[in-house]
Order: sequence, then structure tokens, then C-alpha cells
Amino acid sequence: MTAPQPTTLLVAETVADVRAAVTVMRRAGRSVGFVPTMGALHAGHVSLIEQAREECDFVVVSIFVNPTQFGPNEDFNRYPRPRERDLELCANAGADLVFYPTVDTMYPPGHRTFVEVSGLSDVLEGQIRPGHFRGVATVVTKLFLIVLADKAFFGQKDYQQQMLIRVMTRELNLPTEIVTCPTLRDPDGLAMSSRNAYLSATERQAGLCLSQALRLAERSFASGECDVKQVEAAMRGMIEATPGAVLDYAVVVHSETLCPLATAEPEMVALIAARFGTTRLIDNAVFIRK
Ligand code: PAJ
Repeated sequence: MTAPQPTTLLVAETVADVRAAVTVMRRAGRSVGFVPTMGALHAGHVSLIEQAREECDFVVVSIFVNPTQFGPNEDFNRYPRPRERDLELCANAGADLVFYPTVDTMYPPGHRTFVEVSGLSDVLEGQIRPGHFRGVATVVTKLFLIVLADKAFFGQKDYQQQMLIRVMTRELNLPTEIVTCPTLRDPDGLAMSSRNAYLSATERQAGLCLSQALRLAERSFASGECDVKQVEAAMRGMIEATPGAVLDYAVVVHSETLCPLATAEPEMVALIAARFGTTRLIDNAVFIRK
């Protein structure tokens, strides 16, 4: 096996520059892959870029901390923005072009057009973070229409987000196929996240209760438990028993509609969210019962 060669990375700050670069590739018959991110890249993001590299000829990554998906009391201002490190990680992972727009480029003064996916944006994460998914749907639609990629790559880590984007892409007839990639974890099980950088050592240790609760649910279904409410109660119990963890939700829902379930179904997903100090973490596990 030879190590992947770092490519020459183009950095574009305007919509016109992205369009021009992508148009040249398309005309040459190349397929285009797209990985939208907010930067502060870690191995989870890198795995998406590598997947895009495997499946597509020309790989575009966007790095944009999107203000419209942050609530007024959320971490928009303190969200990490390590530009040089991010560009290096993109280059090493095999990206060809990074779109690095300013807020004014994405939202010129007076911007007033938004995309809403009703139903899916109001439950779970959407209920706790009002307006969050409206911001995500809007920026992803804009980015999709700028890049016009053949495929876009999202992490399962943000399960509700990728499901909402799938539905939105289908319903708006956006010409991009959605690919969902597995969640990358640290060796102790904590799902990688740019927000893990905020955690103190004690909070990080407490954060392990999320992946442990998911494993508990998995074992429970594997051993034949059919009562979803029992499984949810067990997950909640485990998180609530962890000092320093404040539970937002721990549910098992239908993997496509995200509707609550009473009894186990062939395809379910456990979704959990909890706060550790000022940091909110989310995690999930998909269960397929044959
Ligand atoms: P961000 O949090 O930067 O995540 C970018 C992509 O990386 C998302 O698809 C997310 O699910 C994926 N990702 C994050 N952690 C991961 C992990 N541990 N394993 C695998 N993939 C992981 O999600 C966003 O940005 C934004 O909402 C965005 C879609 C860019 C719109 O602004």
C-alpha cells in the first residue's frame, strides 16, 4: 500500500470561483464529491473526505461556521476556527478544492430566503435548538446549488441532520446523492466532535456514558427485548446516574421518520443528547433487526 499523495489544494472564497473550478471538471467528465463542514476538522471529517476521494474524481470541501444554525446563546463566537490546520488536513486527506466563504458571501446583507423541512426539524435536536435545522437546511441547499456535486458525504454522527438533508434533497429535487458515513470514535468510545475540545478531563470521562448507554440498548435488543420504553428507561437511567451529565433526551425511534416507537421494529435508531458543563454532546446507534 502506498500512502496517499497530498494534492495541490485550491482555496476559493467566492461562489464564482467554486463554480468555475467545478465547471472545468464537469466538462472534462469528472465526477464531483462534496463534504460540507464547519471546520475544526478531526478524524471524523477526514474520513468523509477520504470516502469522497474514493468515490469521486474531484473533491470539494466547504468550511463555513454557519451563523444561522446557532441559537443566540450558543457557541457561534467561540466555535474554533483553525484555518491553516484545517487546510492542511484537507490537503492530506485528498481534497482538491476548499470553499472558504465569508458570512457576507453566504448571507449578503438583507438575505431573507430560508429552507424548512417541517416535522423533522421540530423534534429532538430541533425541539431543543429552535431554528437550528432551518439554518442547516438553508446553508446546505445553498452549498449544494453552488457546488452541484454528484455525491455529498455526511456523518451518521449527526443522524437527524443527515436524515433531514436526505428528505430535503429528495423533495427539492436537488441533483446530489447523499452518502452517510459511519461515526468515528476515540478508542474509549466517545464519538469524535469539534466540541469535544471544550470538555475538561472530568467532563470527557462523564461523556463516555453516551456510547455506553447506546451499547446497553444494543445488548438489550440483541437479547430479545421488544419493549422500547424499557430500553429508553435503561438508557436514561445510565446517563442520569453519571455525575456531571444532564440528560436532554434518550429515545429509540423509527430510523426514517424519527417517530416514537412502542415496540421494536426492523429498523430503529437510538438518539441521545446530554450536557456536560456548558458542552452539549449527541450520539446515536442504528439497530437493524432481521
Ligand atoms: P460539522 O459539525 O463540521 O460536521 C461536518 C460533517 O462531519 C457532518 O456530516 C458530520 O456528521 C460529520 N461528522 C462529525 N463528527 C463525525 C464523526 N465522529 N464521524 C463521522 N462524521 C462526523 O454538521 C455540520 O458541520 C454542519 O451542520 C453542516 C452540515 C456543515 C452545515 O453547516
